[in-house]
Amino acid sequence: MDCLVALLILCSFFNKKLCSATDDTITHNKFLRDGDTLVSNGGIYALGFFSPGNSQKRYVGIWFNKVSEQTVVWVANRNNPINDSLSGVVKIYGPGNLAIFNGNASNPVWSTNISTTVTEKTSSSALSYKLLDSGNLVLVQQNKGDVLWQSFDYPTDTLIAGMKFGFNWKLGLNWSLTSWKSRDDPSNGDFVLILNTRGAPDGHIKNGSRVIWRTGPWNGRTWNGIPLMSTNFLFHYSFINNSDEISFSYGTNNNSIFDRLQVDDMGFFRRSSWLEDTHRWNEFYSAPGDACDHYGKCGAFGSCNPNNAQLCSCVPGYKPKSQKDWYLKDGSQGCVRKREILCGKGDGFLKLEKVKLPDSSNARVDMSLGIKDCETECRNNCSCTGYSSGYVDGSGCIAWFGDLTDVKQFTEGGQDLFVRVDAIELRNSTRHSKGFFSKKNLVLLCVLIVVGLLTLIFAFYYLFRRAKRRGLLLKERSLHELLSNLPASECNEESNSKFDLPIFDLDSMMLATENFSLANKLGSGGFGPVYKGKLPDGREIAVKRLSKNSGQGIIEFKNEVVLIAKLQHRNLVQILGCCIDKEEKMLVYEYLSNKSLDFLLFDRTGSTSLDWGMRHNIILGIARGVLYLHEDSRLRIVHRDLKASNILLDASMNPKISDFGMARIFGGNQTQGNTNRVVGTYGYMSPEYAMDGLFSIKSDVFSFGVLLLEIISGKKNSGFYCEDHSMNLIMHAWKLWKDGRPFELADRAMGTSFPEQEVVKFIQVGILCVQKMRMIGQRCPVSSSC
Ligand SMILES: *[C@@H]1O[C@H](CO)[C@@H](O)[C@H](O)[C@H]1NC(C)=O
Ligand SMILES: *[C@@H]1O[C@H](CO)[C@@H](O)[C@H](O)[C@H]1NC(C)=O
Ligand SMILES: *[C@@H]1O[C@H](CO)[C@@H](O)[C@H](O)[C@H]1NC(C)=O
Ligand SMILES: *[C@@H]1O[C@H](CO)[C@@H](O)[C@H](O)[C@H]1NC(C)=O
Ligand SMILES: *[C@@H]1O[C@H](CO)[C@@H](O)[C@H](O)[C@H]1NC(C)=O
Ligand SMILES: *[C@@H]1O[C@H](CO)[C@@H](O)[C@H](O)[C@H]1NC(C)=O
Ligand SMILES: *[C@@H]1O[C@H](CO)[C@@H](O)[C@H](O)[C@H]1NC(C)=O
Ligand SMILES: *[C@@H]1O[C@H](CO)[C@@H](O)[C@H](O)[C@H]1NC(C)=O
Ligand SMILES: *[C@@H]1O[C@H](CO)[C@@H](O)[C@H](O)[C@H]1NC(C)=O
Repeated sequence: MDCLVALLILCSFFNKKLCSATDDTITHNKFLRDGDTLVSNGGIYALGFFSPGNSQKRYVGIWFNKVSEQTVVWVANRNNPINDSLSGVVKIYGPGNLAIFNGNASNPVWSTNISTTVTEKTSSSALSYKLLDSGNLVLVQQNKGDVLWQSFDYPTDTLIAGMKFGFNWKLGLNWSLTSWKSRDDPSNGDFVLILNTRGAPDGHIKNGSRVIWRTGPWNGRTWNGIPLMSTNFLFHYSFINNSDEISFSYGTNNNSIFDRLQVDDMGFFRRSSWLEDTHRWNEFYSAPGDACDHYGKCGAFGSCNPNNAQLCSCVPGYKPKSQKDWYLKDGSQGCVRKREILCGKGDGFLKLEKVKLPDSSNARVDMSLGIKDCETECRNNCSCTGYSSGYVDGSGCIAWFGDLTDVKQFTEGGQDLFVRVDAIELRNSTRHSKGFFSKKNLVLLCVLIVVGLLTLIFAFYYLFRRAKRRGLLLKERSLHELLSNLPASECNEESNSKFDLPIFDLDSMMLATENFSLANKLGSGGFGPVYKGKLPDGREIAVKRLSKNSGQGIIEFKNEVVLIAKLQHRNLVQILGCCIDKEEKMLVYEYLSNKSLDFLLFDRTGSTSLDWGMRHNIILGIARGVLYLHEDSRLRIVHRDLKASNILLDASMNPKISDFGMARIFGGNQTQGNTNRVVGTYGYMSPEYAMDGLFSIKSDVFSFGVLLLEIISGKKNSGFYCEDHSMNLIMHAWKLWKDGRPFELADRAMGTSFPEQEVVKFIQVGILCVQKMRMIGQRCPVSSSC
């Protein structure tokens, strides 16, 4: 469409007959005046007059037609602008050239300058010019289709997809880029990007004769010094080297991508793509980027690492030429050999990994050699200072016979460079890189060990001090003593008398549980699966098999064994014995046929079987059990993990508290403790325990309160929510209480026949138990009045 518009504009100016032609070529007598644009067939590029930046001068150029910010990629008369915007015209000129004229002047300001020998063969009447969708302006011989001239052969400062960079020896074409003088002036600037064909082909940006930056040699895939550049689904690169030409070019796999490589007026090489979304050019890459990109930053035999504070270092076997300048961070003097090399007397090569290869202008390149032959070639010539393979695939050979200049260390990409070093250096480095126990690593190891030990000592000291400050040390120790005096085989024959615990061997356990079959699995406790089993005498048992990698280590295990063995109460699960066999640790309990309370309570059908009488009985049973733990047993015990799933029900629905793995023993008159390992179950943990790790018998009281409310309401505290206000069960109960309708908390599954007074009283107790204790300053009445 854009093309048609352009043609229509042209038609209004010129001969209407010509415009009936369907293609966008303009024949010899067609002018392109200032103000007109010639748009390529697909509308991607446009040709016309323009004024760059703040300039008033007129230039003929090609720009991206679809890019809103005018971006010129080629300029015809860059050094001969036209002074006004009225008189410029592009036309076929004389015998067979395309030229730009200033008004009626007889000499063009710019011409394609095709030599007469070519033009004689062509009749000018058959010439036409057109702008292709690739951005190439071509002058063609209409009937033959021969391209006589094309703008791609005369790049200015920009390389676009399909253009070539390099040389064509046969046609004498010099495909190099020359920067603009400034943003306002496209005439030849100071900076040239040119393919250096001495040694391994390598793009150089030069200011006059001085090299500013190198691309690094072509490595078969990319330029060695531009690791970021890689073939991907959007771009592909091609490198041609034959007797006719040597060139680099790239292509996009989608011609709606606008992409350009440019040498700008400041001497920077930039690669950018147009982002349609943001309407701006996005820069992928620009060079020189960091300090190490500046050619020869670290001088001869220096290596530059942009990630080091001290940018410059010497390649192996070399030392700074001038220590003073080196410390002043001026590495440009480079490095010299540490000692004279005795060629052929034990010298060798050390590898520098992932580097930008040095300037190869004076190197010998033989792409037919492999890396082994390359080493041989370099080793056999004493003036060879280093070598590397030519391509990343390991083929080809570049051998340097002089300074190694402009080596840069990459973290990613780059190639390996082998540097010739003397015998001493070679021996030294192999000694130092002898694996893990090199001197450097040993020193490091020692330092680490010392630091580790110191940390441990400090940590212990700190913990000791902290514990002592809290006056808990003695009491904690009594617990520890209790536990550590227990041998791992607590319940084996010799010490059997101590707690009167029967031992079961592993075989009988396997027999009883049918080899721990899945069918016999009752569930998973905190520390491992629980299986149902049957002893030969017919007794049913529950076997808790502690998983090897469970948190319940030997400590918790002993804890549980000791505790339960000592506790005898009808509301506590009774332990029948234990089993220890190497890694296996098992506890054998009486089997309770009605599983745990949560199975019934939180189940829609199960809860209907729990009438008030049963619930009443369960609550009182739990309360008795807790009271026994807290007050009546020989030890003061905090269960720390009271919850519905730890309340087991026997055949006549009597509750029994289980799972003492987390319980802690307090000294007879101790009422509060502190733990650095908060264990328990959220939803049942008292706030001060969950947040500060502070626990006491009050923590159990809190859990009991939650449990009580759960039993009455049939709802879980965690995971409870009301439709209208999001709060947990406790808040909900409190709200109902405050609103004077606590009765609504009662589980509908209980039916309607229960004594209201009693239920309300239980709810009150539950609420008291979970109330913030510090605020009301009194203990929950559970252990006395429940
Ligand atoms: C443009 O003006 C400059 C000086 O003002 C003059 O030297 C140059 O020849 C002019 N160019 C053309 C094409 O008229
Ligand atoms: C160019 O020539 C045409 C006729 O040949 C004339 O009308 C016009 O004024 C001339 N323009 C200039 C700038 O000399
Ligand atoms: C064409 O040739 C003339 C004279 O040889 C020269 O001044 C001019 O710069 C050349 N133009 C181009 C575009 O090469
Ligand atoms: C190619 O062109 C550039 C820029 O004009 C120039 O510096 C270089 O010497 C030319 N090279 C050859 C071989 O002509
Ligand atoms: C380029 O070279 C010129 C002349 O040698 C010098 O004045 C200028 O500072 C150089 N520019 C850069 C960026 O090196
Ligand atoms: C390029 O081609 C020339 C001649 O065909 C050959 O001598 C040279 O080794 C080649 N260089 C590379 C880097 O392939
Ligand atoms: C080219 O890219 C455009 C937008 O980025 C996408 O819509 C189109 O499908 C692509 N075409 C091809 C051939 O991948
Ligand atoms: C070593 O290489 C240099 C530089 O290419 C060359 O001048 C010299 O003849 C070579 N010496 C031998 C022994 O091959
Ligand atoms: C050996 O190598 C180490 C570290 O690489 C270096 O500090 C030392 O100076 C070297 N010794 C000699 C004799 O080169």
